[in-house]
Amino acid sequence: GLTGTEPARVPAPVVVAHRGASAYAPENTLAAVDEAAARDARWVENDVQRTKDGELVVIHDDGLGRTTDVEDVFPDRAPWKVKDFTAAEIARLDAGSWFSPAYAGTRVPTLEQYLRTVESHHQGLLLEIKNPELYPGIEQQILKELGDDSWLDQRHLAGRLIVQSFSADSLRTVHALQPEVRTGLLGMPKAADLPGYARFVDLVNPSHTSLSAAYVSAVHAQTGPHGVPLRLFAWTVDDADTARTVVGYGADGLISNKPDVVRQAVSGH
Ligand code: G3P
Ligand code: CA
Repeated sequence: GLTGTEPARVPAPVVVAHRGASAYAPENTLAAVDEAAARDARWVENDVQRTKDGELVVIHDDGLGRTTDVEDVFPDRAPWKVKDFTAAEIARLDAGSWFSPAYAGTRVPTLEQYLRTVESHHQGLLLEIKNPELYPGIEQQILKELGDDSWLDQRHLAGRLIVQSFSADSLRTVHALQPEVRTGLLGMPKAADLPGYARFVDLVNPSHTSLSAAYVSAVHAQTGPHGVPLRLFAWTVDDADTARTVVGYGADGLISNKPDVVRQAVSGH
């Protein structure tokens, strides 16, 4: 029987490679997904936005400048916003050289290319709808592309997809359009507001920086739209001490640029 000295049995947290294994390969590229797989990350996180001609692409910033050579290729197109470039134009850009010459020629992936790579590694996907206010209707478009290609039922992503956003409105739309899809609200809403969000979100995903055990408990105390407690994935956790602290608070997942480091830190926790 229980003696009171046995360690609590805590399930291993989900480790999610943030923008892929982005400490080791250029963020939000297929190379970063491959690198995550090579380091045994079973989940990856990405950021989805839309081109001028309506293609869904995987990139973090609303501008192309930080992570591509767009300013060299299209010098007269300031301020180089994703939404002002066609998919064909973006496909010409180098999204790897800024990170390392070893990744020269790496491209900004389309969502379709990205999904195929995730599938090839049997990974789960934490798909962030980034800046949805810039892309009216993007929720419906993402769900349509997933549905048209059967990603959500017979194919790999069934049960392995969470759609997240900083925009509660965007997640409310996703839930209304396709209630079976799990959703995660980025940020750290007041505990008093959690019951309202629990009507349409399955996870609350805050920064680790002001997290506490009490907050994780408040999240777990709510029941989500699928009849189970809300879960919590914390970001961006890249060192062993922080990983152990956050898992000690009860976090269910760690979103990390260094998924190998945090997995090592919390395995057997
Ligand atoms: O997944 C959490 C994290 O990605 C949210 O912030 O700016 O990296 O998209 P950001
Ligand atoms: Ca993100």
